[in-house]
Amino acid sequence: MGTRIIGTGSCLPETVVTNDDLSRIMDTSDEWISSRTGIRQRHLVREETTAGMSAEAARRAMDNAGITAQDIDLIIVGTVTADHVLPSCACEVQAAIGAEHAVAFDINAACSGFMFALNIAHAYLQTGTYKTALVIGAETLSKIMDWNDRSTCVLFGDGAGAVVLQLSSQGGVLAFDQGSDGVKGGVLSCVNRTNNNPLVETSKELGYVHMDGQEVYRFAVTTVPASVIRTVRAAGLSVEDIDYFALHQANVRILQAVAKRLKAPEDKFPISLDRCGNISAASVPILLDEMNRKGLLKPGMKIAMSGFGGGLTWASAVLEW
Ligand code: UT7
Repeated sequence: MGTRIIGTGSCLPETVVTNDDLSRIMDTSDEWISSRTGIRQRHLVREETTAGMSAEAARRAMDNAGITAQDIDLIIVGTVTADHVLPSCACEVQAAIGAEHAVAFDINAACSGFMFALNIAHAYLQTGTYKTALVIGAETLSKIMDWNDRSTCVLFGDGAGAVVLQLSSQGGVLAFDQGSDGVKGGVLSCVNRTNNNPLVETSKELGYVHMDGQEVYRFAVTTVPASVIRTVRAAGLSVEDIDYFALHQANVRILQAVAKRLKAPEDKFPISLDRCGNISAASVPILLDEMNRKGLLKPGMKIAMSGFGGGLTWASAVLEW
């Protein structure tokens, strides 16, 4: 039995911020952002929350799958921007949608978070521990951006994407590959709340994302193609057999470089970053939902997915739709 995605959903905040909007509040331009990254706009939260968007994406995915919250017995949210340190975002989603039978928890694998969560859910389903899983990638990255650092804040956006997974005799996950390199953690980092116990001087330092963009770029264009190739081979396929590559949306130049290394046509790499920017763990499920709703995904198609980012971490999957 394969682990199959039977429904997808997504939710983006209402407010759209274009590159021109940003150029009015900081020293940047549409020309720089779009030519270096392919990003033209992003959605940023006002009142929306990570859990609220996650719950809405989950409702849409359940609706698409034709199931109810009562059917869900596992909820995993990949996020680095949960609204609370506790409870977890997944527990908040459980409460919001009324999935009373579910076990719910978050995982932190940054931009690979959705893919790591997908693999965990896949493993649980394969062992028979749970039957129906909701896997979500969700972020409100705008709250951990340093809005004085134009080299990072223009890249990221907010949003959530969700999938429903169930065992099926047809299709599903064919292979997985994932990895981490904690030694390089410093190239993409964000400090959490600092120690303020009575033994130390209280520090008011706030954590913002710090990224060595060029290091991350180099990591992405070497690690992602290697991981995708390993996964495709483990699935018993070749790169030519893959119908779509649904990759983490960080930079269109990374997608082009990966396509080149894989010797795959660029039109097999769908894009949402032009409209959404980089939404870390939410990128892949939002992209998948767009592809699903556009009718691009047909039964039997082979889809390669890959996430990469902070940790450093990476994860790829090949599945039959
Ligand atoms: O999801 C996590 C994974 N993250 C990624 O995959 C990000 C990977 N990295 C990248 O996508 C690229 O490295 C960036 C888009 C972040 C940066 O592109 P780059 O071509 O590597 O630019 P750079 O950092 O070398 O900066 C070039 C110039 C600098 O000016 P000088 O020193 O050449 O005068 C920057 O100060 O561009 C300047 N710059 C900007 N100018 C206008 C940096 N940010 C901006 C900006 N607007 N927003």
